[in-house]
Amino acid sequence: MKLNIVCIPGDGIGPEIVREAKKVLEAVAKKYGHEMQFTDILMGGASIDVHGVPLTEEAIATAKAADAVLMGSIGGDTNTSPWYKLEPSLRPEAGLLKIRKALNLFANLRPALLYPELAGACPLKEEISQKGFDMLIMRELTGGLYFGERKTIEENGMLKAIDTLTYTEEEIRRIAIKGFDIARKRRQKVTSVDKANVLDSSRLWRKVVNEVAKDYPDVTVEHMLVDNCAMQLVKDPAQFDVILTENMFGDILSDEASMVTGSIGMLASASLNDTKFGLYEPSHGSAPDIAGKDIANPIATILSAAMMLKYTFDLDEEATAIENAVKSVLKKGYRTIDIMSEGCNQVGCTQMGDLLVEEI
Ligand code: IPM
Ligand code: MG
Repeated sequence: MKLNIVCIPGDGIGPEIVREAKKVLEAVAKKYGHEMQFTDILMGGASIDVHGVPLTEEAIATAKAADAVLMGSIGGDTNTSPWYKLEPSLRPEAGLLKIRKALNLFANLRPALLYPELAGACPLKEEISQKGFDMLIMRELTGGLYFGERKTIEENGMLKAIDTLTYTEEEIRRIAIKGFDIARKRRQKVTSVDKANVLDSSRLWRKVVNEVAKDYPDVTVEHMLVDNCAMQLVKDPAQFDVILTENMFGDILSDEASMVTGSIGMLASASLNDTKFGLYEPSHGSAPDIAGKDIANPIATILSAAMMLKYTFDLDEEATAIENAVKSVLKKGYRTIDIMSEGCNQVGCTQMGDLLVEEI
């Protein structure tokens, strides 16, 4: 099979971790007889430095022409980087929001699971962590507060900022369908998270989710208020299978969920539209403080590449080969610094990539 993949190395540790993911993908291609073609595009700070904008139309066109996009991370230190002196629409994050919208990537899948080998890194009490957990946050990604009209005006000599939160039935329905579809392939449970005791958009969300649920009698649906969900994530994360939620709530809850795993350097994510196309990236950020030191954990990006093989290319066996390589390397005791524990073997970013290639 011929795979046409666009890579966005991006900023911070992005170029290092994408390099390792490419290496692993090449190894998979060699083993299973595929041909991978990689094309790099610039986004975020890397694009600002060259083009003055975080994402060019040309880069969007290149991404659109590919089968899938593999991204590292974008952005720098918000306190010190000159990128953050620019107006908001020219900052690195604007590139990410632009590509999400341009490619219609409305479904953001963020798995958060406790790796048994890394259970010691879980910050929760042992009585909670020993139950284990494996959830997937299905976050709506192209609507809500992120893309509503916003402005700052002056009223009676006072500044006033306005952000708007809107959702149409259709926007809710299509993400709900994605959530129920994936729950069917997992443990058949959807927890839809909203703030229906306050927000109209949440009341519509709940109504549409209930309508969609009728087509999935085999999937259990429950509704949970977002503040309660934030609490339940640390109290009893094992109760969750698929968490279905809107853009802003999903942004916040997915950071919380990844943190309770204790190993954010391991968590992958996918952003999908209604075709096979997807953008795949690690759940973590660009970690500018450790960039260029060859100590970053490339596993989240490598597992994102595995998600790409599975969701965009239907190459389940190849994806599993990567997942098994990760498990095996962990079992052998190799760890990057972020997941290091006593008695293990500490390795750098390149070395971790090499070990995974060897396994494959
Ligand atoms: C994320 C990030 C982005 C978001 C930022 C960088 C705009 O936090 O992917 O979760 O808020 O969506
Ligand atoms: Mg976020």
